[in-house]
Amino acid sequence: MPVLSAIRERFKGEKPFRGLSIAMALHVEAKTGVLALALKDGGAVIHLTSCNPLTSDDDVIGSLRSDFSLDVHGRKGESRDEYYANLNAVLDSRPDIIIDDGGDLTRLVHTERSDLSDRIIGGNEETTTGVNRLRVMEKKNILKFPMFDVNDAVMKHYFDNRYGTGQSTMEGLLVSTNLLIAGKLAVVCGYGYCGKGIAMRLRGLGAVVTVTEVDPTKAVEAVMDGYTVMPVRDALKTADFAITATGMKSVIKYSDLLTAKPGIVLANSGHFNNEIEVDNLDSRSRRKEEVRKNVTRYFLENGNHVDLLSEGRLVNLSAGQGHPVEIMDMSFAIQALVAEYLVKNHEKLSRKLYAVPADIDRSVAEIKLKSMNVNYDSLDSGQLEYLDSWEEGT
Ligand code: ADE
Repeated sequence: MPVLSAIRERFKGEKPFRGLSIAMALHVEAKTGVLALALKDGGAVIHLTSCNPLTSDDDVIGSLRSDFSLDVHGRKGESRDEYYANLNAVLDSRPDIIIDDGGDLTRLVHTERSDLSDRIIGGNEETTTGVNRLRVMEKKNILKFPMFDVNDAVMKHYFDNRYGTGQSTMEGLLVSTNLLIAGKLAVVCGYGYCGKGIAMRLRGLGAVVTVTEVDPTKAVEAVMDGYTVMPVRDALKTADFAITATGMKSVIKYSDLLTAKPGIVLANSGHFNNEIEVDNLDSRSRRKEEVRKNVTRYFLENGNHVDLLSEGRLVNLSAGQGHPVEIMDMSFAIQALVAEYLVKNHEKLSRKLYAVPADIDRSVAEIKLKSMNVNYDSLDSGQLEYLDSWEEGT
């Protein structure tokens, strides 16, 4: 992780987080551990837990505890109660800063743990779902401290959401099914940056891809990118695979599955496990059976059957290893720099959702290019002048 390492080296000397405690709720896997250690080297006291019951890497948690003496909570397969107990445990440290993925930690300090909100100087949010929740909180005027929208930083979503989710979703799909993708019909629900990445990689492996969308502009984009666009229910009738990446609930409804192609493989790469109606699958199916590790076959009430991967939770982290290291290097570099920015600027900030400053995006891009030994051009003085003028162009 050359970008995060460069930042970590600087943090070691400057200690921007000296005396501060940071509570983090992220997917706890190896790359996340490196972010936690970079912040620790910057002087922070770290309290880390998982932001999802099924995405922790238990070996990493063990190593962070025993080899690096970090306070880390969570385990893969934890119950809902354990999950919340762990979120509460990191909040018991009375943090100054929160770093969240999905918004559950942030919600807690605005509800049951609101006694903590006065001492928190602000925080960062990693993902689309969490940012959507923050937008609602900001609109309702209930945000109690500044939050940074890391998801929408260019150096995050262009790469993490598209190439990261694209590749790690394929990993989860392939590891759990061992099925051929070439020649299959695949449906991707949602054509945001995550959906784009998934569709692109499925196509690359030889699938014929259909996209479903609710946003007409994104639907046009999908058509122009060469995909068929149709409603979910229709698309499922002939599909071999369907993958959700929308941030919305009930995208694949139980009722749609009654008429889906028998044996269709269902997976989700969105933050929460409500994109596919897993509750209805559980309550309304005749029975279910574990047919492979991470694959549950549901026998529906009308005799149809479908295969659900990883309980409908993020397939790329629960069956795969999360985004590739080169991607998380950039995403977590943004997290680290935004946390530093927050410490330096929190007195000027208010209870709002902030975009990541453009300088931070630029500096992550510069370090990344340097680490890859890639040179690029810059504008000369005449061009800079041209940029600043409104004269006739010829
Ligand atoms: N690894 C750590 N956090 C991740 C995330 N939000 N998505 C994918 N892989 C990750």
